[in-house]
Amino acid sequence: MPPRRAAVPSFAKVNLSLKVLGKRADGYHELRTVFQTVGLHDQIEFEFTPARRGLAVELEDALAIPDNLVLRAARLFCESEGVRGRLRMKLSKRIPMGAGLGGGSSNAAAVLLALGPLTGRCCTPDSLHAIAASLGSDVPFFLYGGTALGLGRGEELYPLPEAPPWNVLIVAPPVHVSTGEAYQALGRPALTSPFDSRKLNVFQSFVWRMEDLSGSENDFEAAVFALHPELERWKRKLERFGAHAARLSGSGAALFGVFPDRAKLQGALPKFSKEPLKVFSTTMLSRARYRARVLGSLREHVAGNTWPPVSRYERHEL
Ligand code: C5P
Repeated sequence: MPPRRAAVPSFAKVNLSLKVLGKRADGYHELRTVFQTVGLHDQIEFEFTPARRGLAVELEDALAIPDNLVLRAARLFCESEGVRGRLRMKLSKRIPMGAGLGGGSSNAAAVLLALGPLTGRCCTPDSLHAIAASLGSDVPFFLYGGTALGLGRGEELYPLPEAPPWNVLIVAPPVHVSTGEAYQALGRPALTSPFDSRKLNVFQSFVWRMEDLSGSENDFEAAVFALHPELERWKRKLERFGAHAARLSGSGAALFGVFPDRAKLQGALPKFSKEPLKVFSTTMLSRARYRARVLGSLREHVAGNTWPPVSRYERHEL
């Protein structure tokens, strides 16, 4: 049987708002966040050759990322769906790693979305979500994309009205913040009880009128800025050069500025060229665009306009 091929985009996210409540009995922190996909993306190339028996999974990854989520996601999917054959993948990275932009989580979700259509196995949305959540708290969001409310440890998701396709300037410093360590660094006042009503009210009022990003907050900023003061300087610089709002993304260390006005973003870009930063000019990506881009990349393998994408191959064709 001939190999089936696809090159699937894997988009980054920013957190338009991120409130951390308290630490839960399971050790995770209870969150209230608004996730937003942006156009900045990695690419994963797939080649799947079905076979009657055996499974071989390979990844070509120039950065040799240890314990790569791409491999873990592929193995979990294939084991849970009984896939047999040879799967070769190639990961081309643009999203800075360990930056709070969800790159690794997005890569894992892109694998889960692609493997159904490519292998002819059709995971239910619930089991796909469960596999995603077992890989990481942010992975399920990337099964949906767009603007979404994230509760729990970030895996409980609700679609929100789409944010406008605003321009986003992302600046990523050469600083790596481990998510686990960032949570450890949180103390009062960032860390409260899981039911802090003031914090819940602040978050809810932001979600009700998201067009005004001035109400957004990221609870990691105080702790992460204390460790890396240059980040606060860059946040202020984004604001000074016209960003409607500038925030840390996730637990950092990337910062993003939202520019409703494209000319202002173009004007701000050169101001960062001499800084030791990776700079990306992109736009917010709606759920519809996100799905169209992923479905488009899998077009020849997908039956209809379904989401999550369903394979056009018969499950038992071997
Ligand atoms: O779920 P994920 O593997 O991305 O989380 C990485 C680490 O971040 C966890 O091991 C945990 O220490 C911390 N975390 C947390 N609360 C969350 C999400 C992550 O404490 N809601």
